[in-house]
Amino acid sequence: MAPRDRAVPPALDVHVTADDLRAAMERDVRDGLTSTPKSLPPVYFYDDRGSQLFDAITRLPEYYPTRAERGILEIAAKEMAELAAADTLVELGAGTCEKTRVLLDAMAATGHLARYVPFDVSATTIQRAAGELANEYPGLRVHAVAGDFHRHLGRIPGGGRRLFAFLGGTVGNLDPDQRRRFLADLDTVLDPGDRLLLGTDLVKDRGTLLAAYDDAAGVTAEFNRNVLHVLNRELGADFVPDAFAHAPRWNEGDHRIEMWLRADGPQRVRIAALDLEVVFDDGEELLTEISTKFTADGLADELASCGFELEEQWLADDGAFLVTLSRPLR
Ligand code: SAH
Ligand code: TRP
Repeated sequence: MAPRDRAVPPALDVHVTADDLRAAMERDVRDGLTSTPKSLPPVYFYDDRGSQLFDAITRLPEYYPTRAERGILEIAAKEMAELAAADTLVELGAGTCEKTRVLLDAMAATGHLARYVPFDVSATTIQRAAGELANEYPGLRVHAVAGDFHRHLGRIPGGGRRLFAFLGGTVGNLDPDQRRRFLADLDTVLDPGDRLLLGTDLVKDRGTLLAAYDDAAGVTAEFNRNVLHVLNRELGADFVPDAFAHAPRWNEGDHRIEMWLRADGPQRVRIAALDLEVVFDDGEELLTEISTKFTADGLADELASCGFELEEQWLADDGAFLVTLSRPLR
C-alpha cells in the first residue's frame, strides 16, 4: 500500500435490500413467536441503536471478551499477519471495525496489504465504518459488503490472498447446526491460500460469564430489549419493552449463555404487519440470543470436521479468550 496515495472512496455492495430484510423478518418473527418456547433470531438486534448499544457493551467493565481479544491481537497481530501473508482482510460481522485497526496495521507492516472487505448485515454501520477506515488508511481499497453471513458468503469478492477474520466470539451466537453449516460454507468460499482467523470465547466460571451479560449499568438489558423496539418500529408491533425483564442464564449442558426476555405480567401483543396476536403468560420467556463458550480442544475438533486445519492459536493471558488461525484442508 502506497502511503502517499489519497484516500480511495469505499465501494459498497448491498445484498440485503430493505424488501429482502423485511420478508426475512416477517418470516422469522412469525415462526419464532408462534413456537414454544418463543424465540427471535439475534440478527434483528443490530439496528442503529442496537449497534450503538453493542458498542457500549464492549466498553463495560464486566464485558471482558472485547478487551481480551484486543489484548491477543495487540500481542500477536504481527505473527498473524506474517503467517497469513494476505493482501486482503475480509472481516465478517465487522460492525464498527473497532479492533480491525490492530490487524490492518500489522498487515500493512508486512507490505502486502491492499484491500479491506468489511461484511455485515447492517448496511449503515458498515458504510460508516468503511468511510472512516478509507480516510485513516489512504491507499487501502475498502470494499464493504452488506450481507447476511448465512446467505451471502459466496458474494465476497475474490482475488489475491485473503485473511478472513470473524472476531468478537460472534460464531458462538450460532447454534450448533448453523455453526456447522456456516463453517462448511466458509470452507468452500476460502481458496487454498486463504486463512481464517476466528475469535472465540471460552468456558469459564459461571459468575464471570453471567456478569458479562448482566452488567450493573443495565446496558445489556437495554440491548436485549432493543429487539422489541425494532419489531415495534418495523412491523407495527405494540410490545411494551419495559414490561420484559432481561434474564440471562448459563446453560451448563450446552455451555452457552442464553439471553431471555421475561414477561412481567401477562402480555397481549399485536403485530400489525403480520396480522398476528401473541400472548405471553406472566413470567413466560422469549429466547433472543445464545452465546456459546468453547474449549480449545472442542473448537479444534469442530474446525476439523468442517474442513479446516488449525495452524496456530493464541490464548489471552488469563485464558479467557482464544483466537485461532486455520487453513482450508484441501
Ligand atoms: N466484530 C465486532 C462486532 C461483533 S457484534 C466485534 O468483535 O466487536 C456482531 C456483528 O455481527 C454485528 O455488527 C452484527 O450486525 C453482525 N451480524 C449479526 N448477524 C449477522 C448476519 N447474519 N450476517 C452478517 N452480519 C451479522
Ligand atoms: N457476540 C456477542 C457475545 O456473544 C454479542 C453480545 C454481547 C450480546 N452481549 C450481548 C448479544 C447481549 C445479546 C445480548 O458476546
